[in-house]
Amino acid sequence: MMASFRVLYLYFLLLCFVESLTSRDTITEGNFIRDGETLVSSNRFFELGFFSPGSSTLRYLGIWYRESPSTVFWVANRNTSINNVNGKGLLRLNDQGVLLLLDAKNNTMWSSDNSSTTTRIKAYNPFAQLLDSGNLVVKNDAFDRLWQSFDYPCDTLMPGMKLGWDQETGLDKVLSSWKSSYDPGQGDYIYKIDRKGYPQLFALRSSKVMFRPGSWNGITLTWLPNHNPNPIFTTEFVVNEKEVYFTSELRNNSIFSRFAVNPSGIGQRFDWVIQTSSWQLLSTGSIDQCENYALCGANSICNISNNPVCECLRGYEPKNFKEWNVSNWNSGCTRRVSLDCGGGDGFKQYTSIKLPDTSSSWYNTTMNLKECKKTCLQNCSCAAYSNLDIRGEGSGCLVWFDHLLDMRQFPAGGQDLYVRLPASELDHFRDEGRGSIGKKKLAGIVVGCAILAMSFMILGLTLIARKSKPRNSGKEVMDIPTFDLSVITKATDNFSTINKLGEGGFGPVYKGTLEDGQELAVKRLSAKSGQGMEELKNEIVLIAKLQHRNLVKLLGCCIVGDEKLLIYEYMSNKSLDYFIFDVTRSNLLDWPKRWHIIHGIARGLLYLHMDSRLRIIHRDLKTSNILLDAYMNPKISDFGLARTFWDDQVDANTNKIVGTYGYMPPEYVLHGCFSMKSDVFSFGVIVLEIVIGKKNRGFLDQEYGLNLLGHAWRLWIQGRAMELLDECLRESYNEYEVLRCVQVGLLCVQQKVEDRPDMSTVILMLNGEKLLPQPKVPCFYTAGDVFADPSHRMSQNEISQTMLEGR
Ligand SMILES: *[C@@H]1O[C@H](CO)[C@@H](O)[C@H](O)[C@H]1NC(C)=O
Ligand SMILES: *[C@@H]1O[C@H](CO)[C@@H](O)[C@H](O)[C@H]1NC(C)=O
Ligand SMILES: *[C@@H]1O[C@H](CO)[C@@H](O)[C@H](O)[C@H]1NC(C)=O
Ligand SMILES: *[C@@H]1O[C@H](CO)[C@@H](O)[C@H](O)[C@H]1NC(C)=O
Ligand SMILES: *[C@@H]1O[C@H](CO)[C@@H](O)[C@H](O)[C@H]1NC(C)=O
Ligand SMILES: *[C@@H]1O[C@H](CO)[C@@H](O)[C@H](O)[C@H]1NC(C)=O
Ligand SMILES: *[C@@H]1O[C@H](CO)[C@@H](O)[C@H](O)[C@H]1NC(C)=O
Ligand SMILES: *[C@@H]1O[C@H](CO)[C@@H](O)[C@H](O)[C@H]1NC(C)=O
Repeated sequence: MMASFRVLYLYFLLLCFVESLTSRDTITEGNFIRDGETLVSSNRFFELGFFSPGSSTLRYLGIWYRESPSTVFWVANRNTSINNVNGKGLLRLNDQGVLLLLDAKNNTMWSSDNSSTTTRIKAYNPFAQLLDSGNLVVKNDAFDRLWQSFDYPCDTLMPGMKLGWDQETGLDKVLSSWKSSYDPGQGDYIYKIDRKGYPQLFALRSSKVMFRPGSWNGITLTWLPNHNPNPIFTTEFVVNEKEVYFTSELRNNSIFSRFAVNPSGIGQRFDWVIQTSSWQLLSTGSIDQCENYALCGANSICNISNNPVCECLRGYEPKNFKEWNVSNWNSGCTRRVSLDCGGGDGFKQYTSIKLPDTSSSWYNTTMNLKECKKTCLQNCSCAAYSNLDIRGEGSGCLVWFDHLLDMRQFPAGGQDLYVRLPASELDHFRDEGRGSIGKKKLAGIVVGCAILAMSFMILGLTLIARKSKPRNSGKEVMDIPTFDLSVITKATDNFSTINKLGEGGFGPVYKGTLEDGQELAVKRLSAKSGQGMEELKNEIVLIAKLQHRNLVKLLGCCIVGDEKLLIYEYMSNKSLDYFIFDVTRSNLLDWPKRWHIIHGIARGLLYLHMDSRLRIIHRDLKTSNILLDAYMNPKISDFGLARTFWDDQVDANTNKIVGTYGYMPPEYVLHGCFSMKSDVFSFGVIVLEIVIGKKNRGFLDQEYGLNLLGHAWRLWIQGRAMELLDECLRESYNEYEVLRCVQVGLLCVQQKVEDRPDMSTVILMLNGEKLLPQPKVPCFYTAGDVFADPSHRMSQNEISQTMLEGR
């Protein structure tokens, strides 16, 4: 019995092997490849063939990486899928050199465009070939190129592809997202070059600008503050009469890299890691509030470290104070005093800026900064100028007219921008302005020691100047707002129990309402902290700098004597556990909302682990720590506090166990070892709880004596994972997404730390790499597992103290 199975299996393997061998290097005229065959590049890095994305059964013609067949970067018939019910589709080349994609009934489902001028070249003996770059081209006998797939990008910008406009072909090449990870149809999101003014890259959603990666500064796009050259690829931006485009080239052809727009509209750069045969997410850019296009309106600057984030430029004031005071910044800012225009105007230098929208700009590549300033002063509607190219000393000139839109302030990097002001407004900050200009000039003239001495002096002066600058209301002793204890006491009605929202691991949380009606959440830290007051303050300042839309925002603090209060934004929809574990309220979170929540938690956690400077391990991630705002956006709370309260090293052993049973991995409970993978474990538990609608702790599969993780794993290996789905989701679920969540959840709770994916991989997995590894046995899968429940073990002091389960 067993043996015959083996033989069958081998036979099956052979069949597959044979099928994958029916591949060729070219298609010649009148010839075709049928579904099941592939066209390969001569370097064998790329394959063209038919595929079905995710769990879909529809067929598409696409090109993918041979090493990673689920990474399809180009799709021919993205809008018109083929249904193989009547037989298989095929791709053929006609005598005109046009590729035709036919279904089994000979209906043309797609054809290569033949309208461009290049097809007027006679198509003698045409043939199609997949080049080593992944480009599918049709050429004629004389090797003239009749058509190429690189002219029709889908969601991925491959090295060698051009994104932008080409007068000759009349094509405007854009990137457009897939509808979803299992439907390559054109989705809502488009990345395209806008040619108004100095050309720049826009990300649009349903033709509305969503965010602006910006213009090219010689090194990178203006939205990326970091100016280090990339070791894997080079990027080029070309602007001339005939063409405007971005393109990138690999530094080493055997190392893959690609830029793709995912179905949620996020542009991501991936590199292929040979050692692990997987894609590594390199950058997602900064995804925070300030990236929303023109969030602050005109003539205003977004600074994510500020609260509120928007601030008018020097010399400007809110157009509508009433709106501005309630954080509605749409109408932007307007000049307090109009420009002189007669020559009395000056400029204020801003540093580390994402340059404004260049739609209403003018540029010259050869002018220097001085000429640029002169040019700006000559036109009364010129509002600002900067260098066009920041390489070396900087060169070229970029000037803006009328309004300045969509600027942000980076903590470092970015660019210098000179904003025009009338002389009277210049006086307001003469010292500051002179300081920076003087610094520049001196550096040019004086050499050697003189420079050093001078700069020290200037540094000293600026430091003193900064120190003596009065702070807002004199209360911001740290870099974050400090609240008066009396204000908070009043807002929370003297910490009355009626206002108590819950109890976290670090102390109770109260709701507060300020006199102006603003609602707050006030966390009253329990008295003991291993740290001194200074360190605690420093930590809080660091935590306040963590900014991500999936993290709860720290608004300020109040530290007076023994009273240590953290003041957070108030989340009107309480926490995740309040919904998913409640029979009636669980109906309010349908599947699309839960899917969105899972993604949000993953992104927030990725930010804590990788993207923030602090590399924070949460250590107490659980459904009651996932708060929901008015739109059911998830926000992780209590992050960074573990770090504050228990001063341990990353990946260290600790003899104090913090966390909550049911969410802690074995290596932590048993040996006190924690790492980012401990958070990944907790994340996996949360994902499974969201899908199943039940708590891991307390769940018991009577029949098999399994806990929730064991139960999920059993159904998964039996191919019955859909039975796990919470009853109330039966109307709204998407099977592919549900299965993906269960699988990712199970991968995250695997026994062995090294088997669990890291958060960047989790995000890739959720976003639809086709093949995921099979999960191995989860940790703590039997209900009787002594370590899964504290009642069996360690009821001792320290643990029960720090283990307060929230709400
Ligand atoms: C797909 O459909 C969209 C509209 O839904 C259209 O704008 C786009 O050009 C189509 N793409 C292709 C390759 O046919
Ligand atoms: C499709 O076209 C091919 C060649 O032109 C022909 O042999 C075949 O019979 C056609 N099939 C159908 C279903 O019309
Ligand atoms: C070119 O495309 C048009 C439709 O866009 C089609 O009618 C025509 O037959 C095509 N020409 C060739 C040679 O395939
Ligand atoms: C390109 O990468 C391969 C694989 O890492 C390496 O063997 C080769 O030497 C590299 N070539 C160059 C020119 O750096
Ligand atoms: C941005 O905010 C940080 C923190 O509040 C502050 O230090 C910095 O000066 C701000 N930048 C501007 C241009 O306001
Ligand atoms: C807005 O706030 C500013 C500063 O707090 C205040 O001076 C001004 O009166 C407020 N304006 C309105 C219309 O509320
Ligand atoms: C750019 O500036 C230089 C120097 O002022 C000038 O010679 C040149 O004509 C300008 N180019 C354009 C396109 O305006
Ligand atoms: C100033 O620049 C604007 C925008 O380019 C232009 O329309 C206007 O003619 C210019 N004015 C002068 C005096 O050059």
